[in-house]
Amino acid sequence: MNILLYGAIKYKQMETLLLQNTERDIARAGEILRGGGLVAIPTETVYGLAANALDGSAVAKIFAAKGRPQDNPLIVHISEMNQWNSLVREIPPKAMKLARAYWPGPLTMILPKSDIIPDEVSAGLDTVAVRFPSMRTTRKIIDAAGVPLAAPSANLSGSPSPTCARHTMDDMRGRIDAVLDGGECNFGVESTVVTLATEIPRLLRPGAVTPEELREVLGELEIDDAVLGRLKDGVKAASPGMKYKHYSPKAEITIVKGTLDEFVTYMEIVSKAEESEKIYALCFDGEEEQIPLECVTYGRENDALTQSHRLFTALRELDERGAEKVYARCPSTNGVGMAVYNRLLRAAGFSVVAL
Ligand code: TXA
Ligand code: MG
Repeated sequence: MNILLYGAIKYKQMETLLLQNTERDIARAGEILRGGGLVAIPTETVYGLAANALDGSAVAKIFAAKGRPQDNPLIVHISEMNQWNSLVREIPPKAMKLARAYWPGPLTMILPKSDIIPDEVSAGLDTVAVRFPSMRTTRKIIDAAGVPLAAPSANLSGSPSPTCARHTMDDMRGRIDAVLDGGECNFGVESTVVTLATEIPRLLRPGAVTPEELREVLGELEIDDAVLGRLKDGVKAASPGMKYKHYSPKAEITIVKGTLDEFVTYMEIVSKAEESEKIYALCFDGEEEQIPLECVTYGRENDALTQSHRLFTALRELDERGAEKVYARCPSTNGVGMAVYNRLLRAAGFSVVAL
């Protein structure tokens, strides 16, 4: 086995097995994880790159395989509610209420951590993020491993999160022990992250559990500044992952706010003025006919769930097609739309034009 360098961190070049969603292969994934290896696993949100969350040296390999900055903490995944008790110092009533309402599901909660959480998981913070996924295959893999699993999204750091086994393999082949193919992820964007370690609960990352749904249970909820904007220089990120440019394809993306008609007119001007020939529109289903550019679609206009399901696949497709510049139709920020806009905004490096 040779050692390769990715960024400043080393990972071991290895053969990556493709496992199937069968009892035998799930047992195999469990064995690899128990032995300190890395397996990429399906969840209802995106594929995760899993290791035994209680084994600091196994978790360290995740950072090397992804090229992930060491100060970005990981989410710990459990397969039964009672596994939460040993991971956090205490479970306040608000957290319990949220768990009863939305677990298992695409919601991650942050609380002060217990002593069994290795520093590699919490990246030096005194809190830990925990998620109880709803996908049955994910829970079976956690059960097969017999330990909670630390898992960030299974992309190379900075790339769009993978939502199928092929995208996961594209990023992780040669870097990890195995990928387990559980089909396409249902939601397609990562979980909602909320911290309960602050006096008033605070949304750090929007996802399929919406702010309205959180408020129904919590009453009060603050929305972190990083959710819909860019953090000002010098401001410390409550969620370290939110400070990085993220979800980005190689193309330069600009979000265009306005109606379809305004977008079409703007594209007519742009397509004449741009020198690059590899300009694409990232638009909603059915709009291709009207737009005078090559189009990649990402769901129906007023249907945030189809958009979240398709966004990361669309971003990867733009790369596969060699797009250099992309003009994107702007999603609504209502409900699950907030998560779609949050990811697209980061993919665009915060570049937005309002017509
Ligand atoms: O849906 C998901 O959440 C997926 C699947 C695999 O479960 N996982 C995922 O993990 O998206 P990751 O590492 O890509 O994103 C986790 C986010 C990062 O922005 C990280 O900074 C934040 O959660 N985070 C994790 N632990 C934290 C903590 N203790 N305090 C603040 N932010 C935390
Ligand atoms: Mg991620």
